Amino acid sequence: MIDIKKNIFILTGAGVSKESGIETFREKDGLWDNFRIEDVCTIEAFIKNPQFVNDFYNQRKKKMNDLKVKPNPAHEKIANLENKWQGEFLLVTQNIDNLHEKAGSKKIIHMHGTLEHAYCMNCNEKYKLDFELNVDFICKRCNSKGQVRVDVVWFGEQPKGLDLIYNFLNKTDIFLSVGTSNNVYPAAGFIDYLNKTNRKAELYEFNIDKTNKSELFTKSFIGPASETLKKFVSSI
Ligand code: APR
Repeated sequence: MIDIKKNIFILTGAGVSKESGIETFREKDGLWDNFRIEDVCTIEAFIKNPQFVNDFYNQRKKKMNDLKVKPNPAHEKIANLENKWQGEFLLVTQNIDNLHEKAGSKKIIHMHGTLEHAYCMNCNEKYKLDFELNVDFICKRCNSKGQVRVDVVWFGEQPKGLDLIYNFLNKTDIFLSVGTSNNVYPAAGFIDYLNKTNRKAELYEFNIDKTNKSELFTKSFIGPASETLKKFVSSI
């Protein structure tokens, strides 16, 4: 029986947004079937072909702002759980979309950044990303041209909030992993960390398939997260 007075850490990946119509990365016809990571998701790619990278994110932002893209029951159930939780609660998402926020989640860390912000690589000026990223953009603070990039963590860059994340992992009693293939570290290592630190945490995985880490979980709930999470949260 899940005790809502305990501390819960929820990790989400692209699978939680799949049923909202946002493609994942590594499934068939996912993002990485249509783009090479080294062309759109590294600092080297941005330096080599900045507008190509800008357009990749402009497209994803446009898709996210598309009225048809809404939170699905998986996002809603996670927000419900936060509302009724009495222990400490943390949602860490690898996703850069804003569907958790739209569903009402508050205590959230976007460890790979989001499509909501951009910043100047020259002077670190922050921007709300309510414009199209463009190499002709002049930074209003340092006047440099074409240095403003999306505030997304690219491969080889430091994910956000790791100190908060590991502090919370050290007091986690219940860990939910929802819609991630466990391919990208450090997120993929959180389950290993919990197993290694010999904590008596309850470890639950929600995915449409078994993953490479399923055997490390107390239980894997196989099925679309909108259904499996609905059942799980309603049982609490
Ligand atoms: N419900 C639950 N899980 C689902 C659903 C669903 N409806 N649909 C797909 N999945 C699962 C897939 O089985 C897969 O395990 O979601 C997972 C998506 O895996 P990836 O595409 O690898 O996405 P993710 O794990 O979030 O990738 C992590 O990799 O490229 C980087 O920065 C990018 O944040 C991303 C990171």
